[in-house]
Amino acid sequence: MNILITGATGYIASHTIVELQKNGHHIIGIDNLSNSSIDVINKIEQITGTKPDFYQVDICDYDGLKLALAGKKIDCCIHFAGLKAVGESVSKPLEYYDNNIGGTITLLKVLREVGCLNIIFSSSATVYGSPAFVPITEDCPKGICTNPYGWTKSMIEQILFDTHKASPEWNIVILRYFNPIGAHESGIIGERPNGIPNNLMPYITQVACGKREKLFVYGNDYDTPDGTGVRDYIHVVDLACGHVKALKAICDKCGIEVFNLGTGHGYSVLDVIHTFESVNGIKIPYEIVARRPGDIASCYADPSKSQKMLDWRATHTLQDMCRDSWNYQSKNLD
Ligand code: WQD
Repeated sequence: MNILITGATGYIASHTIVELQKNGHHIIGIDNLSNSSIDVINKIEQITGTKPDFYQVDICDYDGLKLALAGKKIDCCIHFAGLKAVGESVSKPLEYYDNNIGGTITLLKVLREVGCLNIIFSSSATVYGSPAFVPITEDCPKGICTNPYGWTKSMIEQILFDTHKASPEWNIVILRYFNPIGAHESGIIGERPNGIPNNLMPYITQVACGKREKLFVYGNDYDTPDGTGVRDYIHVVDLACGHVKALKAICDKCGIEVFNLGTGHGYSVLDVIHTFESVNGIKIPYEIVARRPGDIASCYADPSKSQKMLDWRATHTLQDMCRDSWNYQSKNLD
């Protein structure tokens, strides 16, 4: 299939392109390069031997999108592009709503004009807010998001449902990611946050390489086994494979479906620290500090719908995730 990938040089998109190329798909990648480097395209070629087609274009740029897609047959779009820094979204809500929601609407209009009515959307478990129950199934009610970034994911899901209701010929898969971490085993591609990492694992790897003095653990007074936050960490390669499987649902003309992509296991912050230390033989100094506003105690998936309908399950362990995260960081100290 000819697959349009938005946000192509990003963390999850680049790993997904590797898996799609391994499965014989042809990639047309687009990215505005505001948060990532075009060098990722060369790194993908280094891994797979095939350089994806790439166009530097913003999803908000209608004319740019039309030009990039002119004369091309797009069988499906996998839509990753978007601003995703939770903290930044609180201070820049208008930019987040404009870029993420406005950009998606522009993308959907262009896809419709070029005759592509198949889309896989990169959503997030954050749409559940403080979940009504755990483990979380897809029919768990969506909740109150704690930041504009989360609201953009939730609102885009609504736009997709309304689009399908008006035009059932669309085939739409919404993938709700839990906590993606890790990197390709080669250490050639991985997560490269700008500035101070918001997320746990990139912060840990920066402590491990000496870029940060210590990890600040946001609270140990949650109602969890050791008091620290519990999350469903999923290896980014497992997540990428979930997208390859989701294409089958598109081909089977699924209509519109939501899938949780998680392992079904919850691990605490201290679990991650201790696993990272034992797998990599590196001490991670940390200090318990106050809770981070907006954080929830516990969030992990019931992945049985994805297992059943997509024939997909996560196979990497937390040990694999810690090993691969460090392997990437240690090979990319710049
Ligand atoms: C995980 C745990 C923190 C950093 C976010 C987004 C979500 C998704 C994944 C995109 C929590 C603790 C963290 C640190 C810490 N992103 N922590 N010290 O908040 O579950 O989810 O990333 O879709 O939308 O909300 O992930 O990695 O930030 O935090 O103690 O320096 O680690 O309190 O318990 P989170 P996270």
